[in-house]
Parts: sequence; structure tokens; C-alpha cells
Amino acid sequence: MIRMVPTEAFSRPLGRNEVIGLLFRLTIFGAVTYYTIKWMVDAIDPTRKQKIEAQKQAEKLMKQIGVKNVKLTEYEMSIAAHLVDPLNISVSWKDIAGLDELVNEIKDTVILPIKKKHLFEGSRLLQPPKGVLLYGPPGCGKTLIAKATAKEASCRFINLQPSTLTDKWYGESQKLAAAVFSLAIKLEPSIIFIDEIDSFLRSRSSSDHEATAMMKAQFMSLWDGLDTDYSSQVVVMGATNRPQDLDTAILRRMPARFNVNLPTIRQREAILDLILRDEKVDSNVNLWEVAKETEGFSGSDLKEMCRDAALFCVREYVHNSSTEDRPDADEIRPMTQQDLKAAISKMKKTKEAGVHTLQHVSLD
Ligand SMILES: Nc1ncnc2c1ncn2[C@@H]1O[C@H](COP(=O)(O)OP(=O)(O)O)[C@@H](O)[C@H]1O
Ligand SMILES: [Mg+2]
Repeated sequence: MIRMVPTEAFSRPLGRNEVIGLLFRLTIFGAVTYYTIKWMVDAIDPTRKQKIEAQKQAEKLMKQIGVKNVKLTEYEMSIAAHLVDPLNISVSWKDIAGLDELVNEIKDTVILPIKKKHLFEGSRLLQPPKGVLLYGPPGCGKTLIAKATAKEASCRFINLQPSTLTDKWYGESQKLAAAVFSLAIKLEPSIIFIDEIDSFLRSRSSSDHEATAMMKAQFMSLWDGLDTDYSSQVVVMGATNRPQDLDTAILRRMPARFNVNLPTIRQREAILDLILRDEKVDSNVNLWEVAKETEGFSGSDLKEMCRDAALFCVREYVHNSSTEDRPDADEIRPMTQQDLKAAISKMKKTKEAGVHTLQHVSLD
């Protein structure tokens, strides 16, 4: 309740106790106002909790990967939560089959200039490309290659999820986009990886929200900034199944492009060999035959197919065994050519069904 103070009160000097009382009330009033406003701002900012979480995650990660004495802004902290710790990644180059040529090219053009910076320093031509694009049909190893790069490149790897940048607060998206690049530069050498980059930087259209359009434009201009400062060791790496949907301005910024296509018969044999390496497989199984029969299968189709074949053996054991005991791995028979054949035809049916239903779905 506010008490009215009579005007004559101001015409005489205040006593000591009155001054103390007034100051006390003012202090209380100030404190209450401050905390009320702070509470209101916090309550209406739905991203606050997320930000605190991101900060905790970022601090933990930076400690893990050994980043020390780097001061980060609040926005850079939000991005740093997406740093990847190579020790937490289980994929390495040896987990990728049939793509040796492509992997070697990536090692030479992207990773070598980062790792052996001193050899390339004098030349502008020999700098790592500022943009690298992996493109090709789904399930053929793009994400796998990116993971192996994160593990083996011995540089900082930011796995940027586009949703991180689409903050609902006006202007925040742009600050976050700026933070992506400033963080990458602070931690260089570094790779900014954007999986499914088409969902983020697809052709700009007039229906884009104004803030989204501004964020994209800013992202691109920051990216150009990397090009001007040619000594910077920051690479933007993207992967997509739909390169045709990418903005031409983006494609121009990704001069190093690697096509990760459906595997050839030889590559399929290599992938099958890798998938079945540690499995119980009958010695009569001929992987070349399997590769021959799996034309049009992606690496991920082959993996699913082998999983099915392995399941046939387990299912058969479970159905035939009389006891309710847990199956003993030794008693399950090895996978045969017949199991693989059955799994192939099952996968072919699924694939056909997939294509069939897609044909009936309007794609626009
Ligand atoms: N060349 C390959 N060697 C080994 N496994 C592969 C290969 N290609 C695909 N795979 C398998 O398929 C899965 C999906 O591959 P992924 O890299 O996610 O495909 P995408 O190209 O869609 O990103 C992988 O986790 C892996 O098990
Ligand atoms: Mg992928």
C-alpha cells in the first residue's frame, strides 16, 4: 500500500530516523522491483532452461576435449554444446567399406592441410577448401564418413543441428549463426558439420520467414568471411540426399564435392564382408554371389538384410528348442547362403513396396 505524503512534509528538513526509514523503504522497493522484473523476463523466456543446460553441457565437453583458457560468450556456449568428443565416437575409417578411394581423397584434400598446416602455409592454393559437400542417395555412408572424420581428423568438430539456430526470439538466430563461426575460429582448426544441409540451407523462397531468410543470408556472409581470411582453419562440411534442393549460392561455397553413390558389386562385397566379419557364417557362403543379387541395395539395406538373415537362425533355434532357457549362442546354427537369399528377397519386396507407395504420394 502506498501512503500519501503530505506536501508540507517536504518543506521541513527530515529527521535522521525519517531519512533512514525512507532509504530503507526505497531499498526494499528497488529490490522487489528488480526481482519481479527478473522473474517475469525469465518466465517469458522459454529458452532459458535450454540455455543453462547447453552451458553445462558445453563446459563439460570443453573440459573433456581439452579446450582451456578460451573465453566464450553466452551464444558461443550454446553452440559449444554441439562439440563432438572424438573419444565418444565409435566409427573410424576401418568401419567404412568399399569407399577407400573417396576416403583417401577426403583425407588428402580436407584433413591433410589441417593436420600438416606448416606444409601448406605459404600457398593460398593449398589451403583446405572452406566448404565440403557429401551427396548421394540415403544409406550409402555420408554420415558414416562425417563421423569417422570427426574421430580421426584431430580437430574440433561441431555437429551443428539446424534447430539450434532457429530460436524463436527475433534476432537471436542471427547472433547464434555468428557464434557458430566465431566459436569455430576460436577453436580452430575446426570443422562445422551440418547433416541434411538441404533442410537448413535449401533454396531460399519468398515464403521464408523474414528472420530465417536473414539468418541464412548472414550464415552465408560469415562463411564468405572464412574465404577472405585464407589462413583460417575452419571448414564447413555438409551432407545431403537432395543436392538439387540446395541453394546455388550454397553449392558455390562448397567447391569440394564428393559423390557417395550406391555401391557397385565390388563395393557391396566389401560392405558384406565388413558386416559379417564377426558373425557366425557358414564357410560355404559366397559373398560375391550375394553382392551379385543385391543390385541397387545401399549399405544400410545390406546391413538390414544381414540382420534379417541372422534373425532367421535365432528364430529357428527358439522355435525348435523345447526349453525356455536363454538361447546359447553356440547352439545357434551359422548363417547359410539360403538365409541370405531369403533375406534378400524379403528386402527386395520391402524396397519395391516402398517405391510403390511413394509413387502414389504426391510429392509437392
Ligand atoms: N560403405 C559402407 N560401409 C559400411 N557400412 C555402411 C556403408 N554405407 C552404409 N553403411 C551402413 O549403413 C548405415 C547408414 O549409413 P549413413 O552413413 O547413415 O547413410 P547416409 O548416407 O544416409 O548418411 C551405416 O550406419 C552403416 O551401418
Ligand atoms: Mg545421413
